[in-house]
Amino acid sequence: MGRENFGNRFGVLVAMAGSAVGLGNLWRFPYLAGTNGGAAFILLYLVFVFILCIPVMYSEFLIGRRSGANAIGAFKTLAPGSKWGIVGLLGVLASISILAFYSVVGGWTIDYMVKAFQFRFTVTDNAVLEGMFAESISSVYEPLLYTAVFLALTAFVVLAGVKNGIEKYTKVMMPLLFLLVIIVAIRSVTLPGAAAGISFLFKPDFSAITTDTVLDALGQAFFSLSLGCGCVITYGSYVKKDEHIMKTSAMTAAADTLFALIAGLAVMPAVFAFGISPSEGPGLVFITLPHIFAQIPFGGVLAILFFFILFIAAITSSISLLEVVVAYLSEEFRIKRAWSVFAGVAGVACLSVLCSLSQGVLADVRIFGLNFFDFFDKLSANIFMPLGGFLIVIFVGYKLGRKAFESELTNDGKLRVATWLLNFTFFSIKYITPLAIGVIMLNGLL
Ligand code: PFF
Repeated sequence: MGRENFGNRFGVLVAMAGSAVGLGNLWRFPYLAGTNGGAAFILLYLVFVFILCIPVMYSEFLIGRRSGANAIGAFKTLAPGSKWGIVGLLGVLASISILAFYSVVGGWTIDYMVKAFQFRFTVTDNAVLEGMFAESISSVYEPLLYTAVFLALTAFVVLAGVKNGIEKYTKVMMPLLFLLVIIVAIRSVTLPGAAAGISFLFKPDFSAITTDTVLDALGQAFFSLSLGCGCVITYGSYVKKDEHIMKTSAMTAAADTLFALIAGLAVMPAVFAFGISPSEGPGLVFITLPHIFAQIPFGGVLAILFFFILFIAAITSSISLLEVVVAYLSEEFRIKRAWSVFAGVAGVACLSVLCSLSQGVLADVRIFGLNFFDFFDKLSANIFMPLGGFLIVIFVGYKLGRKAFESELTNDGKLRVATWLLNFTFFSIKYITPLAIGVIMLNGLL
C-alpha cells in the first residue's frame, strides 16, 4: 500500500498546529509559569522557542520529508547501516511516555466537560473547587474510565488514517479553538483585580530563575512544539515535496506560541483576581476556570464550550503522538494499521493506569522521588525531548550535511530562500543549538 499524504497546504499547517497546540499550552504552560515565577520563565521559554526550537523543527521536518518514513525508518533510510535509528527509537519511547500521562489529563478534560454539562460550576469558593479537582483525579475508577475513553477516541481518529482522520478533524477544530480561548482571555483580563496577574505574566523577576527553571522552560518549549520525539519527522513524512518547510515550521511555532500566551492571559489574571495560588500546580486550570465561569453571564454554556475545546486540543495532539508509534509499528514490522493502533494503545494504556492511580492509591510509589505521573512528564519533557532534539540537529549538521539541508529546505532549488538565512540556520543547527541544549541539560540534571 502506498503511503498517504496530507491533502493540501492548509491541511499540513493545521495538522502541525493541531499537534503543537494542546494541553501543553492550556494546561501545562500556565501551571509551569505559575510555579516558576511567571514572566522570567515565559521570557526564557520564548527565547528557547525562537532560537533553539525552530532549528530543531526544520531539522525534524526535513528528515521526515526527505526520507518519507517513520521516526526510526527515517534514520535508517538516510543513514543506512548506522546506529542513528536509536534517535528514532528514543522518539518512539518519548511519545509513549508522553501519551502515558497526556491521556490521563485528556481524561480529566472529559471529566470536566461532563461536570460542565451538569452545570456543576456554580461555586466560587476556592477550597470547594480545589476539593472537586482533588477528588476527581484521586479516585480509582472514574479517572481510569475517562482516560480509557480518551485513548479510544484517539485511536479512532488515528485508525481513520492521515487524510480522512487526522486532517479532516483537525481542520474544523483548530480555528474554533482559537476563537474560544480568546473569548475566555478577554473575560479573564477584564475581571476586577486582573492587573496583578497581567504583571505576573509580563514583568520578569530574574531572581526567580534557577537551573531547574531554565530546564523546565526548555522542556516546555520542546513539549509545546511537539519536538524531539519523532512527531514532526512522522508528519513531515506525509508532506509533499513542494511544501515550504521553513514557512510551515515558522507559522506553526508562531501559532503555538501565540496560543500559549493567550492561554496565559486566560488563566493568570483570573488566578490573581480570585486569590488562587499561582503555584497551585497541575490543578491550576481546572480550579481557576470553573471559578471564572461561575461569575460571568452565560458562564455555564462557556464552561461546556471551554472544556470541549480543551478536550479537542488534547485529542489533536494525542493523535500525533499515537501516529509516531503507529507509523513505526506498521512500517517497520509490516503490521496492518489497525493492529498497530491496537498494540500502541494497549502499551500506552498500561502506563496510563499507573499515571492515573499515582494521583491517588499509588501516590506513595516513587521513582527518583517522583510519582509515576510526574516521572513520565519530567522524563519526556526535560530529558527525552531535548536529548532527541540535540541528536537530531547533530544528525542534520554533521551526518546529512549542508547540501542535503539546503536542497531540502529550498525544494531542490525551486524555492528562493535568502543565502544568509540558510547560512545562519545551518550554523545554528551545527553549533549554537546543540551547544545550548547540551549546557542547559547538563546544568539542570547534574
Ligand atoms: N505539543 C503538545 C501540547 O502542547 O499539548 C504535546 C505534544 C504533542 C508533545 C505531540 C509531543 C508530541 F509529539
